[in-house]
Amino acid sequence: MQKFRLVWDTTRHTTGFEEIDRQHQALVERVNQFSQAVEQHADFSESLRLMNEILSYAKQHFDYEEDLMRDSGFPGAERHTSEHDALMTKIHTLVDTLSSNDSNKMLLVTAFLTDCAENHILHEDQALALYLLAQGVT
Ligand SMILES: [Fe+2]
Ligand SMILES: [Fe+2]
Repeated sequence: MQKFRLVWDTTRHTTGFEEIDRQHQALVERVNQFSQAVEQHADFSESLRLMNEILSYAKQHFDYEEDLMRDSGFPGAERHTSEHDALMTKIHTLVDTLSSNDSNKMLLVTAFLTDCAENHILHEDQALALYLLAQGVT
């Protein structure tokens, strides 16, 4: 079954870098709010409003991580930043296709968002946090 919510699992999702973890939880909360709105057949305008909140929060969060990468000389910065850019492009493309309250398409968007968020946190962000902690960045 497709997964429309991301349940925060401390043992898997926590990176150990406090501010990144705080922002990830806030992002996951927004994605889950969007999923819940779609499941409850919220107005299309309300769903779009929640989606735009996700986009602007994700942008802020990516900028925050990219500043950390630059300041700390993280060797994987280029790859990680391209992944952020690719995620933003994919999400924007999806949002642009949402021109009506098509609940099937909306559910696919929620599944895509939860998968993207989880994969990125589990791989790229865990690697970044490990590096930051090893460098003594707080
Ligand atoms: Fe990231
Ligand atoms: Fe992140």
